[in-house]
Order: sequence, then C-alpha cells, then structure tokens
Amino acid sequence: MPKHTVLTLQEQKIHGQRITMLTAYDYTMSKLLDSAGVEVLLVGDSLGMVMLGYENTLAVTMEDMIHHSRAVARGAAQAMVLTDMPFMSYHTSVQDAVYNAGRLIKEGQAHAVKLEGGADFAEHIRAIVKASIPVVGHLGLTPQSVHALGGYKVQGRTAEAMHTLCADARAVEQAGAFALVLECVPAPLAAHIARRLSIPVIGIGAGNGCDGQVLVVQDMLGMFADVSPRFVRQFAPVGKHVGEAVRQYCAAVKDGTFPSDEHSWALDASLMQHLEEDF
Ligand code: KIV
Repeated sequence: MPKHTVLTLQEQKIHGQRITMLTAYDYTMSKLLDSAGVEVLLVGDSLGMVMLGYENTLAVTMEDMIHHSRAVARGAAQAMVLTDMPFMSYHTSVQDAVYNAGRLIKEGQAHAVKLEGGADFAEHIRAIVKASIPVVGHLGLTPQSVHALGGYKVQGRTAEAMHTLCADARAVEQAGAFALVLECVPAPLAAHIARRLSIPVIGIGAGNGCDGQVLVVQDMLGMFADVSPRFVRQFAPVGKHVGEAVRQYCAAVKDGTFPSDEHSWALDASLMQHLEEDF
C-alpha cells in the first residue's frame, strides 16, 4: 500500500499542502523520484513522445501503458502510481473505459487512472469509479485532442471557453474523480477552479494557484529537447551532463584509458602461461 493515497491527497488539499507529481516511465526513474519524496508518479501517455519518439501521444497503446506502468510500480514504495488511459482506450464506450481502466490496475499495477475530457466523459468516469478504480480528470489542453484543438494551445481564453472549462471541471468532480489535472490554462482561471472544487487540482502550465503541480520529468531535467513549453522550468541540466559524460566515455575508450586496472580482474601469470601454450 503506498503512503500517498486518495485520502492523503484530499487531506493535503484541505490543509493547503501542495501536491507534487512528476511523470515516470521506468523503474530507475521511479525509484529516484519516489525516494526524493514525489507524492504521485504519473505514467503519462507523454511516454509516446518522450520514451518512444512519436510526434504526439495518439499512437500509444494499452500495451505500452501497461508495460511502463508495471516498471514504475516496481520502483514506487511510497508514491501513488497514476497511469494514463491512452487515446481510444475509453472513447469507444463506457464498457471499454471500465475494462481498460481495470487492465491498468490489474496488469499495469497502477493505483489510479487518468483520462482526458469533461462532461462528455462523466458517464465513463462514473462507471470506472463504480468499479472501485480511482480516477483523475484532465482538462484544458488535452493532448489526445491535438488535432481537434488545432495544436498545442493555451485553453480557456474566451468567456465561452472559460465557462465550458468550469462546467467540465464540475462535471468531472461530480462524476467522482478524486483529482483534476489542468493543463495550459490561464493562471487566474485555474486558481478559480481550484478554489471552487473540493478535489485537488494539479496544474501544468496553469499558474501557481493550483493545489499541486506536475511536469514531465525529462523536461524539468533538461533531457528532452524536441519541444520546450514555456511552463517548464529546468531544475537541473541533466541532459547536458549526460552528453558530457558520454563524450568523456567515448574519449576514454578511444584513447585506452578505460577500463583501467580498478575496473578489471587480474589473473595469476602462471595460469596465463598455460593458456599461451594451449591456445
Ligand atoms: O501524459 C502526461 O505526461 C500528462 C501530463 C502532461 C499531465 O498527461
């Protein structure tokens, strides 16, 4: 049982303690983030871009999500593992939504699932929650709708869009979601929604008034240069360090300074003599 659960996150909201969430897609990173105290590890479908090199998240399959979710779950001792439902795993019917959410829990070892969409998916959320699976909603810029939205753009910038976003947020809460991710939404609007909802609102590009924050871990470590959204802060230039370390490794292999004696095993000279005679 993880230390961070639907109950502790709700408590954090009540007491104004901000929630930390980062993406993780593999065992090594999961262990690093978990031991550094991250409360929620999001196995985001952003893995399609960050881990698999796709242009967007649309090609990600249930098998991809299960594979990475299991790896993250094995490394998470304290954190909640929240796994994304990929594109078309919940759109086709409420029944498919429940079935695929169940697979992420059973096979992916996730503790909760996240799906994109508002009032149109309230019925799906309700049915998944009824199956005792905790659900997180995702509104604002919903990357699975990139073609319908006409690109990765800030959402909720007109009066109509603001009202729709608020209504969707309410619908997601009423359907039983225990938290909501808001992506690329003007800060005052996100703060307003966070104040009005009783469930935690986790922002990404949604300002400082949310109940918590999430980032793609490769972005905040400077490891992924394909896109660089304005909302990302690079907390450490790990990507640069990797590049430098790899250049040093290549140079050391080429000039013969690696491996040295400390990284090798010696053998008695008399044994080597036998070998010289035999082979
Ligand atoms: O897939 C993902 O990484 C996400 C975050 C951007 C919130 O959904």
